[in-house]
Amino acid sequence: EKGGFEHFMLKEIHEQPNAIKDTYRGRLLVKEGIIRMAGIDDNIEKFLNANRIIVVACGTSWHAGLVAEYIFEDLARIPVEVEYASEFRYRNPVITSNDVVIAISQSGETADTLAAIKLAKANGAFVFGVCNVVGSSIARETNAGAYTHAGPEIGVASTKAFTTQITVLTLIALKLAKAKGSISNSDYRYHLQELELIPEKVAKALKSDEHIKQVADIYKDARNCLYLGRGYNFPVALEGALKLKEISYIHAEGYPAAEMKHGPIALIDEQMPVVVVATKKGHYEKVVSNIQEIKSRKGKIIGIVTEGDIHVKELADHIIEVPETLEPLSPLLTTIPLQLLSYHIAVMLGKNVDQPRNLAKSVTVE
Ligand code: M6R
Repeated sequence: EKGGFEHFMLKEIHEQPNAIKDTYRGRLLVKEGIIRMAGIDDNIEKFLNANRIIVVACGTSWHAGLVAEYIFEDLARIPVEVEYASEFRYRNPVITSNDVVIAISQSGETADTLAAIKLAKANGAFVFGVCNVVGSSIARETNAGAYTHAGPEIGVASTKAFTTQITVLTLIALKLAKAKGSISNSDYRYHLQELELIPEKVAKALKSDEHIKQVADIYKDARNCLYLGRGYNFPVALEGALKLKEISYIHAEGYPAAEMKHGPIALIDEQMPVVVVATKKGHYEKVVSNIQEIKSRKGKIIGIVTEGDIHVKELADHIIEVPETLEPLSPLLTTIPLQLLSYHIAVMLGKNVDQPRNLAKSVTVE
């Protein structure tokens, strides 16, 4: 059942090239320059006329929502707010019939997310679901939706659900950008082509597994760990930290790299590993200077970099390379080494990777 892998989590990490392909199969028609998604086509006016999009989700799905915020605003120029479902639903939020709410949920059963969409519907919003489990409560409760088609995710730590959620949300953003005319034809085509190449690039990123294992061995006894990223890779930093916390029980925090100097930099000493996502197109120079700040305080740096990188390599204690891609697509690649890093650390510490303590696969309590 684990397909020769030691854990479901590792199997699901390795399934990502195919899972992403399954997500865009039949939807991404590169040659024709078309993105086909019935749930969007049938409701395109709702999206194009929306005042804003409100994303509601929890945990890893909330991180996928944050990536979506960057891509929707950047490409489709639609304002996006990303909300923890549990906060949104209890704070008397302002919702109007001109709002589109996107609920993201792997299981489709998360109680707070379900309650948030009921509230949004009651206030007249159009609610769109991005779920993995077909026929789940959230999938049924939403007005329309798009499944991620990732296949069953058994490991409590979400991996392929995250990258396939980002894939669906990217398809939607590109489709809306095209419909609105906020992206040039050539840019649109370029994004489509690059998206089609993502599965093979994920497969390449997975090949760093042995090297990542060595890095994991060096840092497995750390008590704390920081994850930094900017722009599209800020949510990836949050996701990397969540993965480490939930399966290895090491305290980890994700931060926007530039926020370091507003407090967390005080934590840096020679005991502190800092994982920095520093890919070439993502505010590279700025991240390099953030790395210098950490280095001068003796922090240990693990850089997630673009293949062939030279600057971060000079500064970092370790680098892990991922293939080059367009910046909006980079989270699909930079996430991979962070999943593997937490996986190996948890295994080395003898933790129950697939069923970490205190956690359930779907949180059906409020
Ligand atoms: O099924 P959902 O996507 O609604 O679940 C949301 C969170 O409970 C989930 O992502 C959780 O944070 C994972 N354990 C993270 O790995």
